[in-house]
Formats: sequence, structure tokens, C-alpha cells
Amino acid sequence: MTTTAGTPHPQTRRSFLTRVGVVGGASALYGSMEALGLFATPAEAATPGFAPPSAADLPDSARGRGTKVVILGAGTAGLTAAYELGKAGYDCTVLEARDRPGGRAKTVRRGDRLTDTDGVTQVCRFDEGQYFNAGPARIPNHHVTLDYCRELGVPIEALVNANAESLYFHENTGGTDYGELAGTAVTHRQAKADVYGYVSELLAQAANQGALDQLLTADDAERVVELANSLGGLSGGRYAGNSRRGYVDAPGAGHDAGVVGTPPSMSAILQSRFGTRFAFEFGFDQAMMMWQPVGGMDRISAALAAAVGGKRRITYNAPVTQIANGPDGVRVSYRLNGRTRTIDADYCVATIPPMVLKSIPTNFSQATKDALAVPTGANTGKIGLQYGRRWWEEDDKIFGGITATNMDVSGIWYPSSGFLGRKGVVVGYYSGSYTDLPVAAREERAVAQGVKIHGTRYRDELETSISIAWPKEQYSLGGWVNWPGGRGAAYDQLLRPDGRTYFAGDHLSYLIAWQAGAFESARQVVTALHERVAATAA
Ligand code: PHE
Repeated sequence: MTTTAGTPHPQTRRSFLTRVGVVGGASALYGSMEALGLFATPAEAATPGFAPPSAADLPDSARGRGTKVVILGAGTAGLTAAYELGKAGYDCTVLEARDRPGGRAKTVRRGDRLTDTDGVTQVCRFDEGQYFNAGPARIPNHHVTLDYCRELGVPIEALVNANAESLYFHENTGGTDYGELAGTAVTHRQAKADVYGYVSELLAQAANQGALDQLLTADDAERVVELANSLGGLSGGRYAGNSRRGYVDAPGAGHDAGVVGTPPSMSAILQSRFGTRFAFEFGFDQAMMMWQPVGGMDRISAALAAAVGGKRRITYNAPVTQIANGPDGVRVSYRLNGRTRTIDADYCVATIPPMVLKSIPTNFSQATKDALAVPTGANTGKIGLQYGRRWWEEDDKIFGGITATNMDVSGIWYPSSGFLGRKGVVVGYYSGSYTDLPVAAREERAVAQGVKIHGTRYRDELETSISIAWPKEQYSLGGWVNWPGGRGAAYDQLLRPDGRTYFAGDHLSYLIAWQAGAFESARQVVTALHERVAATAA
């Protein structure tokens, strides 16, 4: 599988073409921009917006009755369900196995303990104020996640997902020869200048030599040449390098005009295959601008947890041990302080990942049980490397962004916060390749890979690290889910409630591995549940 910048699997065309559920502010924005004729409206903009449940929707007899809902999981989906249902006066209780909200939306900070399913515990030794997002780390403009940040007052800042100064690095591997640029780190800007330059040269030559005459009118052929000249920065129809790729000697005062380097040959550039990585930042969900909450991704779940009433509504350290649907309600058993307790509710919203939920005793239908067994946990993880000096900024002028490699680290992420500060945390891999390595070996291997790009300072200036392997997180068992063979009957099954229990989470959306999927799924379930309550009470 090809890896793209910091991304273990490529975004498919289908996944965004079939995406549904632009809601609220976003669809209103699309609508108004369309009215202004600013751009063509994607079909999805026609999707009706979400209206939070309101007590006014319920008949008098049901208002204030406080329908009880037990929500399993205080991750993004569970907290959103509690938050939206709470707006209409539902009496929500959230059970969370961990000692914190957020689920996979985890920010790792000093003092945090990570205990994996092998029983290995790591303690985060970062300095106070240093952190990295071990789960979700970037938010696209169009995701509902930003609407929640606005509504909850969570400040955001730019997440640098593409940076001209970050690097491409391809080493010879798996029998592929990357040519003279193999094992050489090249800036995005330089790779782009060279790839666009040579491809444009080819285009201009083809058009000028009449090779496109079957396809183009003479006028259009001229326009192609015009486009190629601009796109490639050509001179005389040829690419010979230019300042877009940067300087070998930077310009300065007086007569110092700077010196532009000579590009490698067209063949070397093609052989480097750097150009095959450019599509990453064209992705619907990966294009700049992108965003992150100031202070860590977990600021969103912290705000949601506070908005639903904190510990008044959420019971932490409470793993669910049984779910029993009854004709009139749901009984959920859970462990707390060494004792088994039960809670009775009118409805249940289960946001526990299917890989975990399938092992909890329930009286769900066989069809539901079979469906829960289908999705598998995606293998992914990250390591946070704290450095005593922001050498990537000081030495390399890399301010955020991702270095893309064909090594098993996939990408190296430079922090998009704390610029010009003293220390910083680099994400040294975003990959499933390290999951089965012992903790110390993860650091050792990730650092050895980074040294190939950044030299020995990558090892020498490292202060401390901590890594997460999502398949080994007891209450996640994966970074996200895969639906083997695609979203089929099992997916459809879980979109339906089993008796009085509903299922929600990013796995039940076309936005898997995005918090937006959890928000959208929770909204869908909240709407269905509310409609049912309104109809039943009538
Ligand atoms: N949302 C995650 C990321 O941006 C995982 C993902 C990658 C999901 C690419 C879809 C496409 O890294």
C-alpha cells in the first residue's frame, strides 16, 4: 500500500463522493456562497441540516418526564449524544471505562500513564506544557467538528498539514530503485518545482510538436502551452530550474542576487517518484487550511464533558459488563470500585467500539451480534519525541508540517504550536508497523529512521518519548475500524437499533477515523431516538 504524508492509507475518491451530512453552519454557508455564485454546490449541500432535539417536539404528556438514556462511552460520539439529548431535557448518564473523557481523542501530557493490553505501562515524562495528539490531530474546514468548537468555545489554531519546507524522503526499498535521489531528503518546494517543471515541459513540447492535435484545437494547444509555461516556470519551453525550488545561496542585500541550484535530470525526478505524493494535499479532507484545538485535541471532549454536566452525568472507571434490552427499557451492568452495579434506562446508546462491544455479554439479536463481529480494528500508532531544542525550526526552517517518507514511520510531524519556543514534541511515526515492538525498540527504530533524514541530532537531542499502539488500548482495540469488504449488511444492521439500544460512532459513518464521523453518527442516532420518543409518547 502506498503511504501518503502522515497517512497510513489513501483517501479514496469514493469516500468523499459518497460523504453525506454537511450540517448546520456549513450547509448554510454553502447555501449562501452558492447564492452568491461563488462555487458550484456539491450535491451533499442539499442534505438537510441537523436540528437538535427539543422538548417542544414532544407532546405535553412527555415533556419534563425526563426519558432516561444510558450512554456507553464518553468519547466524541457518546458525549455528543449526551450533549444533544440534554438540550431537550433527556436524563442522560454516561458510563466510561477510562478515567477520562475523549476515547481515542487523546492528548498525551506529562504524568499521563498508558497501559497496554500486554500490561506494559508508560509514564509521560514530557515537560509541563509539552504534548502531542495521539489520536485525531487534524480537522478539515468543512467538518462539523469545527461547528462544535465554535458552539463550545474551544479555540482553534492552524494545523500545518502541508509545508513547502518539510521534506520528502524515499529510500531504496522492496526492490524499487528511486534513482540518484534515493536516500536524499528534498524539500516539498524543490520537489514540486522540479516535478511541475518537467511535467509542464513535456506538455509544452507535446503541444508545440503537434502531438496533441488530435485532441486540441490550435487555440487550445496554445492555451496549453501558456498553462505549461506558468505551471512549470519554463523558459523557452524548457525547465531548467528556478527560484521556486529555493536557492543554494540565498539572496541578500546589495548585489547579492542569490544562486539558484541546477535541478536533477527529468529522469532522476521521475525516478524519485516524489510527484506521486503531491495528491495527498489535494484530498478533500487533507487540504489546507486545517485546524487543531489550542492546547490539544482533548480540549473538545473536555468542553463537551463540562457541557453535559461533568461527573454529575459521567461515571468514569466504569467498564460495562452486561447490556440487557427489555420490553420497556435497558439494564446495563458495570464495574465500579470493585463492585458490579446496574443502571436502568429507557434507552441506551452504545458507542463502545465494536471490537470491544462484541465481547460484552448482551441479549442482542443474533444479527446484531454477528454484525458487531465484522469490523476489525485498524493497526496504527504514534510516538511523541520531545526534543530539548526546536532544531527543525532553528536549523531547517521547518515550522510545522509533515515530512513524508516511504519508511515504516510513514510521516514525521513537526508541531503546529509553540513556534519559536524552546522545546517541542515531534511525532516520529504514524504507523502500525511499530505496534508489536517493545516500547524501547519503538523509540530506537523510529529514531534510527529519523536520523537518515535529520542526522544525529535526531538522536542526540532527544529527551524523552512515549508511544501509543491503538490495537493495544484495551478500550479501543484499534485506531479506527475497517469494514472488510466494505460497508455491507453488518454496517446496515448496526445503523438500526437493537430493541432499545442504539449504536453510534465514527465506524457508523462515511467519516471513519475522523471525529466528525462520531459527531455525525451521534446526531443521527439522537434524531432517531428523539423521533421514537416523540412518536411513542404521542
Ligand atoms: N483522519 C485521519 C488522518 O487524517 C485518518 C485518515 C487519513 C482518514 C486519511 C481518512 C483519510 O490522519
